[in-house]
Amino acid sequence: MNLINKMLAVPAVVLALWAVGAQATTNTNDDIAKRLEPVGQVCIQGKECAGMEVAASAAGGSGAKSPDDIIAGHCNACHGTGLLGSPKIGDAADWGKRAKEQGGLDGLLAKAITGINAMPPKGTCADCSDAELKGAISKMSGLK
Ligand code: HEC
Repeated sequence: MNLINKMLAVPAVVLALWAVGAQATTNTNDDIAKRLEPVGQVCIQGKECAGMEVAASAAGGSGAKSPDDIIAGHCNACHGTGLLGSPKIGDAADWGKRAKEQGGLDGLLAKAITGINAMPPKGTCADCSDAELKGAISKMSGLK
């Protein structure tokens, strides 16, 4: 083999190796893409997101908010400390007196929906259903 042939042969081998290497790299990228797939599924705010329904139903069935979540997110700001003269969470005497005045748990619910004095309508949980509010009131007051 003369020198020219040798110089041509070496790059040919290198090229062949490179081609195999490129093939291997492509396969690896495919594998990585597959592994990243679930992460790549973007959830857009306000849209249903695959997997989210499961999380929502685990939190309280058919997407309902739990009393604890509502209280922590809305009611506790005032009722946790009795702020602005609100009946304190667990203060059975205060809640009991109010329940008597309003005609029981449903009467309290009606006041919570409309608001009363410094108590804002729905206790600031605008997207709470009546049933969800009632659950939160029941939990805070101990009334059934
Ligand atoms: C901004 C403070 C504030 C927040 C937040 C708040 N409350 Fe109140 N709440 C009050 C005050 C103050 C009163 C007492 C009003 C009065 O009797 O003058 C009250 C009273 C009530 C009463 C008794 C009503 C009555 O007729 O005596 C209920 C029931 C109630 N709140 C439910 C809730 C629920 C449920 C939430 C959360 C979803 C909530 N509140 C969030 C301030 C608040």
